Amino acid sequence: MSKFNEEKFRELVKPHILRCRAGDWEHAKRVVRWVRKLAKDRDDLDIIIKAAYIHDIGWRDLIESGKKITKNELKKLEPQANKNTKPFVQDLLKEFGDAEKEINIAIQLINAADLHSSSNRVEEIIVDSDNLSKLNIEHVYEKYVEDDYRKMLNLWKKEFPNRIQTQKGKALFPKLLEQLERDIEEELRVTAFGLFGCADEFFKSFNIIMEKEPKMPDYYRVKYYLLCHLFRSPTYWNITF
Ligand SMILES: [Fe+2]
Repeated sequence: MSKFNEEKFRELVKPHILRCRAGDWEHAKRVVRWVRKLAKDRDDLDIIIKAAYIHDIGWRDLIESGKKITKNELKKLEPQANKNTKPFVQDLLKEFGDAEKEINIAIQLINAADLHSSSNRVEEIIVDSDNLSKLNIEHVYEKYVEDDYRKMLNLWKKEFPNRIQTQKGKALFPKLLEQLERDIEEELRVTAFGLFGCADEFFKSFNIIMEKEPKMPDYYRVKYYLLCHLFRSPTYWNITF
């Protein structure tokens, strides 16, 4: 068997994954990074990496490319995406020159990822890699509309204890979930202020006053504290008064 040329494989599959949902290409690369962590010394690493890159190919052209998805759209379109997977994977891997046997293994792995359900060690690796790669704010930001951030987090909180199977994954996912929850709350807090448009205005007028006044007026002190808490900004905390 010839050596796996990952660069060539990425060139082939990237334009196809870019026609999937918003954030799917970044997601695919994160899944590959998790595969490398969980399957470090395995002989079949190459085939797991290939499957990781293209595991969401079933979403190609299913929605407007690059459009962020809602939780409801995800649920509605998922069966069709899963149905598309097999023929799309077959075509791509054939084009890459893979043999029938290898293609079938990749399809099995991707099927496990689609169903979030693993029945052997190698399936555990791809299912865990797919799921663990979701537990970061970049993934949530790239893929979902903001109204659904908390919905997705709650879904994962409920389902991850059953989905995650590898020892490493089990040890890591509770902390990743906790961090993601903190990051989501931070992100939503900043957006809320962006919507009110008041933060910039406040700090602008605050700076003007501080240029003239040696001591912060009391009525500003209250607002200042409030904004610092909401922004949790170390820069603002460091301003002394
Ligand atoms: Fe995925």
